[in-house]
Amino acid sequence: MSNVQEPRNGVVNLAFLEMQPKRAEFLVFGAPLIEEEEIREVEATLRSGWLGTGPKTKLFEQRFAEYTGAKFAVALNSATAGLHLALDALGIGPGDEVIVPTMTFAATANVVFHVGATPVFADCDPTTFNIDPASIAAAITPRTKAIIPVHFAGRPCDMDAIMAIAQRHGLKVIEDAAHATETWYKGRKVGTIGDVAAFSFYSTKNIVTGEGGMVTTNDPDLADAIRIRSLHGISRDAWKRYSTEGYQPYDCMYPGYKYNMMDLQASLGIHQLAKVDRFWARRDQYWAMYNQGFASLPELTLPPADEPDTKHARHLYTLILDIDQLTVNRNEFVNLLKEENIGSGVHFVALHLHSLFRERLGTKRGDFPGSEYVSDRTISLPLSPKLTEADVQDVIAAVHRVIKRVRR
Ligand SMILES: Cc1ncc(COP(=O)(O)O)c(C=O)c1O
Repeated sequence: MSNVQEPRNGVVNLAFLEMQPKRAEFLVFGAPLIEEEEIREVEATLRSGWLGTGPKTKLFEQRFAEYTGAKFAVALNSATAGLHLALDALGIGPGDEVIVPTMTFAATANVVFHVGATPVFADCDPTTFNIDPASIAAAITPRTKAIIPVHFAGRPCDMDAIMAIAQRHGLKVIEDAAHATETWYKGRKVGTIGDVAAFSFYSTKNIVTGEGGMVTTNDPDLADAIRIRSLHGISRDAWKRYSTEGYQPYDCMYPGYKYNMMDLQASLGIHQLAKVDRFWARRDQYWAMYNQGFASLPELTLPPADEPDTKHARHLYTLILDIDQLTVNRNEFVNLLKEENIGSGVHFVALHLHSLFRERLGTKRGDFPGSEYVSDRTISLPLSPKLTEADVQDVIAAVHRVIKRVRR
């Protein structure tokens, strides 16, 4: 529960906030908003006798394809599965290189290892956190086969520049749209710009299915290849094998994976997708409250304004802490916020600093200065539609108090 009264019209009163007592209960970072429709649909699915991939998954795929404007959508059990299957279906394998940002989650690069190829890192723009096209161009070799741009926090990458590089060098583009369900770029929906895209419905994402993901593409052959790989490499969906149409023979065509979405998950997804604009509007309101609430703190760099003709998905509200002006580092700042009963996140520690990549690729500190700048300083504040305005005020008040304690 919040100790702060609900503000009127979301306006933050700073003098009032600094005097507020500490929040009484811990505020979980990234708690999803699940409402009655989702609960009823899950219950109906549980009672239906069919939990696995079936008609609700199909419906979720159709609705997601309509929402993105992509010709095909394949529901999976994660975005990671989508990225892996995209690489596999595009025929990328041993001896190939795939350019990925180092400022991302491990999944973006791990999947490149899964197909036996080598991830090659590119640096980010330290203002937007998105992959820097100049760094992509510098990383291209004769072995490069694909680029995986990540629309960081829901801010679209510079797709004109990225698609131009891809075209010039004959590269595939796999959009990592894990944060970017609602993102638009210059009149085009993310998920329809590159060859294929992967979205995430993990529990902290903009719409959630517990675990879950979706691949979109306009290429029918790629959609087929991904669908077949997602369910053992067999030629028919499992639910059709058991349908009322009688015995349906199937053929195993490929050593596929077990990456299919279940109707139980789609039961959540159908209703979450129907609410995507309402959820976005609420997060957008909280985004504006944070911007206003932190404007007076010189120790913080706030997210930059949206680029013209784009829509930001408002997945993560990321601050940059000016650690030179503070007596603590970012990790200590996270802990001080926790003492204030505010959960926060770090998105991300740059991948080239993790032991997997240092050991396999020989990367080290100093390789990607833009990403290291972000990696050492970034902190993500709660931005779920489940929050109330009073919760957001609690976060703002707690950040003010922590800064007051640790400023030089
Ligand atoms: C940038 C990015 N890509 C991929 C993923 C993987 O998503 P999933 O958990 O659905 O596999 C995440 C998850 O947090 C992510 O942040």
